[in-house]
Amino acid sequence: MQTEIWTASDEDLKKAGQTLKNGGLVAFPTETVYGLGADALNEKAVKAVYAAKGRPSDNPMIVHIHSVSQIGDLTPSVSEAMKILAADFWPGALTMVVPKAPCIPDATTGGLDSVGLRLPSSEAARRLFAFAGCPIAAPSANLSGSPSPTTWQRVRDDLFGRIDGIVMGEPCEIGIESTVVDLTGEIPTILRPGYITRQELENSLAKIGKTVEIDEHIKDMQDLVKISDRKFAEKGELGLANSYANKANQNTESSGIIELIDDTASSDFKPKAPGMKYKHYAPKADLILILGDYYEVAEKMKKMQTELEATGKKVKKILLSDSEEDIKLEMNTFFEKLREFDEKGADVILARGHSQENGRAYAIMNRMLKAAGYKVLS
Ligand code: TXA
Ligand code: MG
Repeated sequence: MQTEIWTASDEDLKKAGQTLKNGGLVAFPTETVYGLGADALNEKAVKAVYAAKGRPSDNPMIVHIHSVSQIGDLTPSVSEAMKILAADFWPGALTMVVPKAPCIPDATTGGLDSVGLRLPSSEAARRLFAFAGCPIAAPSANLSGSPSPTTWQRVRDDLFGRIDGIVMGEPCEIGIESTVVDLTGEIPTILRPGYITRQELENSLAKIGKTVEIDEHIKDMQDLVKISDRKFAEKGELGLANSYANKANQNTESSGIIELIDDTASSDFKPKAPGMKYKHYAPKADLILILGDYYEVAEKMKKMQTELEATGKKVKKILLSDSEEDIKLEMNTFFEKLREFDEKGADVILARGHSQENGRAYAIMNRMLKAAGYKVLS
């Protein structure tokens, strides 16, 4: 298939919009990550998205709109919560899961009776959707299993020859995907943490006396104490730091670090946002998250790097602090670094994990934990 490369000029976006309207697949920039769009009401087009990405077809897609006036067509009744969140966070990095209108085919929602709606702030995206004249179903524009793309060049790397076109926009401002909040139940529940935090949603929904929960499975998978405990229990050792030192002393072929960091990802992980269960963002290299004070982690990384390199492993490091600035930088660069390190043939990536107290750190840790397969060294 020939893949057109379009600019974000009106002339080009018109062509791209027409392609969408005709059932084609077009990748486009948003403020979070690049999306791979299709007419959300065209079953055949939506199925082609799954094929292009190589993605399991039970995974529901987010339906993107360019104007709040479209929501009446996509959900049977607009709740107070939805109105308030739309007013406070749209356009922006928030996806609201609401009951779906019958016009949306099952293929778009993976057979669910709810639909995720998002009005992105990216101006190029909204102009594109307006030219297309239809709601746009779009997952992130990566091949299934690789990190979400934050530049058009990364979309090209993954999807050139598999889709009709790519709109060349700016690198994404945020760099991780939108917050997904489920509004179909009594209590609004975060199904995927993102740039917009629980606290921000709560501040907004306080106007109608509502609180916000985080999906239990996400909580469980991000409980770092538990993740570490689980490892201690399995290993029957005093602590990871000790066992790391012991293994290193045994002077085994790979210094024991890789064996030590066994796979603790639990197989009973069944979050409500179906997309959360797939192994996303997994780099080819072994990613090890190290928790702790910045300087201590820096020291430890240096030591581990020396040992790993002595066994012939290629090591890359990601070392940022918990400052607001660094958290934003981590969000903005993490996916890109995974891709870059894979290109460079890294065997091991050592990354400092973040304290999750600040809500945005919670979101980036969600992606880091998944990329690490929940392998954590404390
Ligand atoms: O920032 C974003 O959200 C990007 C850009 C392109 O908008 N899109 C994105 O799409 O990340 P995707 O397909 O990679 O992730 C969509 C997430 C998945 O976790 C999916 O399970 C969840 O949203 N989701 C979508 N519709 C849902 C629904 N009706 N019920 C529950 N979860 C839903
Ligand atoms: Mg994705």
